Amino acid sequence: MAIKYIPEPFRIKMVEPIKMLTRQEREQKIKEAKYNLFNLRGEDCYIDLLTDSGTNAMSDQMWAGIMGGDEAYAGSRSYYKLEDAGKDIFGYDYIQPVHQGRAAEKVLLPLLLGEGKLSVSNMFFDTTRAHVILSGARPIDCVVPEAKDPSKRAPFKGNMDLAKLESLLKEHGRRIGLVVMTITNNSAGGQPVSMKNMRETYALCQKYGVPLNIDAARYAENAYFVKRDEPEYKDASIKDIIREMFSYGDTFTMSAKKDTIVNIGGMLGVRDSASPLVIQIKANCINYEGFYTYGGLAGRDLEALAIGLYEGIEESYLRYRIGQMEYLAARLDDAGIAYQSPVGGHGVFVDAAQMFPHIPYNEFPAQTLCIELYKEAGIRTCDIGSYMLGNDPDTGRQLHADFEFSRLAIPRRVYTQAHLDLMADALIEVKKRSQEVKRGYRITWEPPILRHFQASLEPIK
Ligand code: F0G
Repeated sequence: MAIKYIPEPFRIKMVEPIKMLTRQEREQKIKEAKYNLFNLRGEDCYIDLLTDSGTNAMSDQMWAGIMGGDEAYAGSRSYYKLEDAGKDIFGYDYIQPVHQGRAAEKVLLPLLLGEGKLSVSNMFFDTTRAHVILSGARPIDCVVPEAKDPSKRAPFKGNMDLAKLESLLKEHGRRIGLVVMTITNNSAGGQPVSMKNMRETYALCQKYGVPLNIDAARYAENAYFVKRDEPEYKDASIKDIIREMFSYGDTFTMSAKKDTIVNIGGMLGVRDSASPLVIQIKANCINYEGFYTYGGLAGRDLEALAIGLYEGIEESYLRYRIGQMEYLAARLDDAGIAYQSPVGGHGVFVDAAQMFPHIPYNEFPAQTLCIELYKEAGIRTCDIGSYMLGNDPDTGRQLHADFEFSRLAIPRRVYTQAHLDLMADALIEVKKRSQEVKRGYRITWEPPILRHFQASLEPIK
């Protein structure tokens, strides 16, 4: 193995005990959970890789900030601290806190979309896709073709397909209410978007008069990849890279539960404070989230958010963070286990279609692998494939996803090198007996939208 683990740029001051159930207990728990990993109790998971969202370890400084939070209903000191940090880092005039990413989507998307409209993205995350559909519009994914080949190692596989975007803009014009640039591209495997691609996408949007929103959940990890892989940025600071990235958008929506290293929080930004959107955003926010200086968060959460914004863009931290992904990916390379490669920013997306080539998309190979990993070592992961994608909203038919990934999302500053080794060993064990897993799963109950959170499944005999 050619990769060296990068030592943590922090030391541990507080611990949280975890325990592993026996295999028999795990088999019983997943059966009781109707084979849906969202139904498991957190304490029944030895290593919880369901998501990197809100599962991060805050620092001593962030915890100290919590004690200093100002709980004023309007005009809290903590809000102004957050506003200053947001303006400083992103260069946007208007910064609106919200309680998490999907709240920002709920506030913004109906202002730009509605019945008959379309929205195009390098790839929508599932809640963003849901908010496009809830507004009455329809989502179109427009990622570069290389993203769809997990074995093809290319930089910036999260990029927008510019030729396809331009032909969509030509064909539909202003019927496209919004272009969404997701950085990093979560659904494509945490793959980054290059600065060049962000610049060119924004130029196309301006040419056709369509606004661009940055879905910025993992913007700091994206900036690190720009520095690492786009030669003209190798000497630029992470902060300067972020400033330029955000100059290629009109608004941003952000789940701060990722790169801002907090357990709850989100933001919405508008680059130009003269935009009529600001007044509409404030109104929606007051209706759905709370007064616009707290946006559904406690003052203490605003404080942690303001501090976390700076910790999340520190280069030594980002090097260690991406280093964890590279280490885990290198162990899988040694074992011949396929994943979306090169590895992205917040996790390893294992190619379950390669692990179980005999299980078809409509028997959910990625969900099958997630269940096997839980049975194997108490590791909780999630399906980013046909099971998550769900049914066509117009025909009700099961959609066939471009990928069948089981995502090992790595929480920030939480797991050690030995935990990463345990993840790799578990995957190797499942691969050894992959032929014994003959069939996948069928859904016995599902809700109409975002079904994967709640559906019940059973193994196909
Ligand atoms: N956009 C992206 C790219 C996301 O990854 C997420 C959440 C959201 C928006 C919504 O943010 O959860 O704060 O409401 N992703 C999490 C995940 C849930 O597991 O990938 P939220």
